Amino acid sequence: MPFCAPSATKGLSGEVRVPADKSISHRLVLFSALAQGLSHLRGVLDCADVRSTLAAVHALGATVHVSRGACGLDVDVTGWGPSGPSSPPGQIDCGNSGTTARLLAGALAGYDVVVTLVGDESLSRRPMSRVTGPLSAMGAHLVASAQGTLPLTIEGTRLHGAHVDLNVASAQVKSAVLLAGLRAEGRTTVCEPAPSRDHTERMLPAFGVEVIRDATCASVTGPALLHAIDAAVPGDPSSAAFFAGAAAIVPRSDVVISGVSLNPTRTGFLRVLERMGAHIEVTPGEDTCGEPTGDVRVLFTDGLRATDVEPEEVPALIDEVPLLAVVATQATGVSRFRRVGELRVKESDRLRAIVEGLGALGAHVWVEGDDLLVSGPGALHAASLDSLGDHRLAMAYAVAALVAEGGVRIERMEAIDVSYPGFVGDLMRLMADHEVHGDA
Ligand code: S3P
Repeated sequence: MPFCAPSATKGLSGEVRVPADKSISHRLVLFSALAQGLSHLRGVLDCADVRSTLAAVHALGATVHVSRGACGLDVDVTGWGPSGPSSPPGQIDCGNSGTTARLLAGALAGYDVVVTLVGDESLSRRPMSRVTGPLSAMGAHLVASAQGTLPLTIEGTRLHGAHVDLNVASAQVKSAVLLAGLRAEGRTTVCEPAPSRDHTERMLPAFGVEVIRDATCASVTGPALLHAIDAAVPGDPSSAAFFAGAAAIVPRSDVVISGVSLNPTRTGFLRVLERMGAHIEVTPGEDTCGEPTGDVRVLFTDGLRATDVEPEEVPALIDEVPLLAVVATQATGVSRFRRVGELRVKESDRLRAIVEGLGALGAHVWVEGDDLLVSGPGALHAASLDSLGDHRLAMAYAVAALVAEGGVRIERMEAIDVSYPGFVGDLMRLMADHEVHGDA
């Protein structure tokens, strides 16, 4: 479905509560399925990706009751606990969700089940060898396609603890190893080249599992039994990023994003925006689900400056690079995002898409090796862009449209359903709020 994303004639203003965090929602659902007892999860993200995880754990034998709550979904999960999952009657469809596929691979590898994971066209292109390799070192039997992609068959078996050094900073792979470690005999340690999001390490202790951590490694000792919990999900910083970036570049904007996770492994985009000179105010709130949360206010900033994003910063803003590239088109100088080759294996080849998409709008964007470069400031003009079915591209293009003369036509806008089905409505409301209040 095409969407004609408008340019902003006035600033964005008002308060927005973004939907629940996707990474945390996946993990709460999956860990509750592993646990013994009934978990009550409040404010779980209602989106296509999390629905894939909900359907998967149901097919594997967890009892799942979903109802519409005040914010997102209220989900009751009775886990399979020590009796383990059952082999599902058919394949498990992970849809578009890499987190569902990779975390399930680790979580199921040590149970007595045979499970085949499949996914949509995009997920079926994404590498699974990064997860099958480390899990094999623990004794796992996983059979992927000849290209190392889905379909992936997990032939559950006995696992042993291992020390695993990852060559890619990936929270999905790290989490898969730790989840396999819960079923393995002895200690499993996973170390990564730079810190990726740490929701798994923060959440497992709430389910009763000890996690030992230092700067780049985490260990669990198996076999370990998880116990049911009650939990609520904070707002998703990756969804908040679109409004933060939009407010920074659209003149006369003043936006507050409330109740969002401020986990430092997720807020790299805020640090980069601040470095570019953006006016950001953070008001801390209560911890939710082991995560610091708060409200983030972002005001339009005239004279944003280009910045260099270093490789060790990338994992903490990996999903925000498309949005930050849009912001960089409005900043003075050349911004360089160093070693962002990982973007080639996300829901689409985001590196190529950013160059082609923003280039079609008139921006100066190019790639040198694995670095992405954006030169600004430059006027953007109208164009028709394809989201490629990638939710984050669709939303980043809608932010670019705000500063593009004549707006932007975005093909396949429905991709936003993967993480933020209400995005367009929330964006329009922030634009309309200004019409009502901002010009008084
Ligand atoms: C995620 C981790 C990241 C991120 C993805 C969600 C997670 O992927 O891009 O959207 O929930 O663990 P990688 O860990 O593969 O970088």
